[in-house]
Amino acid sequence: MSLPTGTRILGIETSCDETAAAVVVDAHEVLSSVVSSQVDLHARFGGVVPEIASRAHVELLTPVVAQALVEAGIIDDHVDAVGATVGPGLVGSLLVGISAAKALALVWGVPFVAVNHLEAHLYGAFLEEPELELPLVVLLVSGGHTLLVLMEDHARYRVLGSTIDDAAGEAFDKVARYLGLGYPGGPAIDRVAMDGDAEAIAFPRAILDEGYDFSFSGLKTAVVNHVRRHPEVTTPDVAASFQEAVVDVLVTKARRAAAETGAKGLVLAGGVAANSQLRERVLDACVADGLHAFLPSRSMCTDNAAMVAAAAWWRLHRDGPSSLDVGATPGLRLPLER
Ligand code: KG4
Ligand code: ZN
Repeated sequence: MSLPTGTRILGIETSCDETAAAVVVDAHEVLSSVVSSQVDLHARFGGVVPEIASRAHVELLTPVVAQALVEAGIIDDHVDAVGATVGPGLVGSLLVGISAAKALALVWGVPFVAVNHLEAHLYGAFLEEPELELPLVVLLVSGGHTLLVLMEDHARYRVLGSTIDDAAGEAFDKVARYLGLGYPGGPAIDRVAMDGDAEAIAFPRAILDEGYDFSFSGLKTAVVNHVRRHPEVTTPDVAASFQEAVVDVLVTKARRAAAETGAKGLVLAGGVAANSQLRERVLDACVADGLHAFLPSRSMCTDNAAMVAAAAWWRLHRDGPSSLDVGATPGLRLPLER
């Protein structure tokens, strides 16, 4: 479907613990992007509680959408399409965003577009750097996902590898919890690790030389065992050595993937892409290998609705509107098309 220039899309994101809405023009100009994080509501439980998340989305979504529309200057008017994340994510949370998006699309008489959350993360980078050259290797690392993807063209992906157990962010969260650093664990470990020695403890790098899959659960056990056997060890040294092990595996595999597929660049996406050590190491690797590195800003790496609106534009452009019968798909995978 060819879309006229100036197509304004309202994106809605409620797949996990961020309630977000944004208005984006032609997949590249962000008019507004509002994110209301529920992190404080879940912190005392040490992780996202699905029931609390859905209830909070119900309360927060209307004011968040209203703010996104007002900030975009859409007051007596309406957008040209509404896109919402339909998966993967928590089913109760997804349903809140999907129902709101369908209702708005019906009232305004504009298309509804079902958006895959993983595809949305890939489009986060394009919002900040529209001229990114393909093919690209994308390292998508968040609390729920760890994927190494070859983006050959728009909407044409090859999943090179994924985690066989814990997601990278999940490993950060679990280790931080064990070390008493609170939730979310990634930013806490990142901070504490700055005062530690990354070479203090040689934690394992699972399946480093084999393929593109990842495994982080053994590393988490290794941290627990080490701290039990060496109670004198300092938290900053454990945090820095753990972070080094995760980053080492992520960067080694992403770099090898780029070399073996002939990719022009390497892009980071997902919450863990905010990690300072990972960002530094990816930049160094790309300079050494002659690759274009693109590290989206921290706010674009974590969940937001601007990336959902951008992905909705591409889907609408390629496939046209989605049916209003589309429901929530908690285990949705990346659409692989040839
Ligand atoms: O993409 P995201 O906001 O939510 C989803 O999981 O979809 O990612 C959140 C994850 C959490 O596990 C959090 O601990 C991790 O990203 N994270 C980090 C950092 N900031 C957030 N991990 C390592 N270092 C960070 N600076
Ligand atoms: Zn996400």
